[in-house]
Amino acid sequence: NLSGFSERNGSWYAEEIPLSDLASQFGTPLYIYSKKSLTEAFQAYDRACVDPTGHRRARIHYAMKANSNLAVIDCFKKLGAGFDLVSGGELARALAIGADPKSLVFAGVGKSADEIAQALQAGVKCINVESIAELHQINRVAQQLNCRAPISLRVNPDVDAQTHPYISTGLKGNKFGIAYHEVLKTYREAALLSQIDVVGIDCHIGSQITSTSPYLDALDKVLDLVEQLKKEGITIHHLDLGGGLGISYGSETPPDITEFTNTLLDHVAKRGFAYLDVVLEPGRSLVGNAGVLLTQVEYLKPGAEKNFCIVNAAMTELMRPALYEAYHAIVPVQNKNLKSLTYDIVGPVCESGDWLGKDRTLGIEEGDLLAILSAGAYGFVMASNYNTRPKPAEIMVDGDKAYVIRSRENTQDLFSSEARLPD
Ligand code: LLP
Repeated sequence: NLSGFSERNGSWYAEEIPLSDLASQFGTPLYIYSKKSLTEAFQAYDRACVDPTGHRRARIHYAMKANSNLAVIDCFKKLGAGFDLVSGGELARALAIGADPKSLVFAGVGKSADEIAQALQAGVKCINVESIAELHQINRVAQQLNCRAPISLRVNPDVDAQTHPYISTGLKGNKFGIAYHEVLKTYREAALLSQIDVVGIDCHIGSQITSTSPYLDALDKVLDLVEQLKKEGITIHHLDLGGGLGISYGSETPPDITEFTNTLLDHVAKRGFAYLDVVLEPGRSLVGNAGVLLTQVEYLKPGAEKNFCIVNAAMTELMRPALYEAYHAIVPVQNKNLKSLTYDIVGPVCESGDWLGKDRTLGIEEGDLLAILSAGAYGFVMASNYNTRPKPAEIMVDGDKAYVIRSRENTQDLFSSEARLPD
């Protein structure tokens, strides 16, 4: 769904605006999102969540860690999304846009007592529990606040999501979730705790997953548990299948959002669990292809072994290549029919790992603009200030209008909260 970004007569556009106009107006590096792309991706999921009779089979809780800009989450809220949160900070963002607390699910392997208290005070729909120790912590915090805590246990189903090891989360060697063989025992324990209400069950097996089969494996294992719990008198109301559906960065062919969602929901119904309230937590597949990072070529540096194209974006703006050797397509914003050469596209940061693309054949010259595609998910949110680099601005394009949704940081801001020792 790169629908919001297109090349027309050799120039790249965000919806109706040439990317080069955005660069002149707002400078580079610059994150640009398309409202149309966000909306279309959400609506594809949401349509598949409603069956032909109009009955809602599932709800989308956008995993805001993928891109938590207030304008982005507000768009999704207006389209009817709930949210998956992983920190007190993300909870504060959700509350700042007026999200209904009952549309919030709080996940994460290391929630602090303070964060648990904030979630309980806000009245979230559910806290997803990742260890027995955390379950007891939640019970204690709820006791202090004299309230009840709605919980779900995150099951580690031990399935291989066949993705990069850093973004695989459902294997027994991962830190996430409660080991499969301990889940029933933990539910029994939870049911006995004074402040705990068991409401759901959840799993999340990884990210950038490009086939449906690991989901079906995990789903079957989780439904087996729901069946067993029912026999024991522990009622599960909602089933949260996490996120993780991949996008195409280049050569991948992930399942289509509608087909994927239908396959999972049909399977839930076929096994007789249509009564469960299903939650899906997509992040990347809602925003990944709805954003690009715009950068400018500073220098071309030919070399004996490699030619380098040094741009003004770096691992500080987009960390995915440095961290996971992730591939992002990189295109010249204006095709000038120059002689092509093969370059490594690198940033100014003092690390050899600071690269954005390797062995890319491009016809470019100094001063040209490049667009790094599929940068809407895990892009800006993972940016850092390493090398005292101010974070870039973020723009949302809607038709022929561009809105600044985060202004560029300035250098003074970066150290204004620091202090020198007294003389
Ligand atoms: N739910 C839970 C519990 C999660 O941990 C995640 C992502 C999601 C939902 C959303 O997953 P998605 O649909 O976006 O795949 N920084 C990495 C990705 C880390 C994903 C972490 N968890 C990257 O840039 O590839």
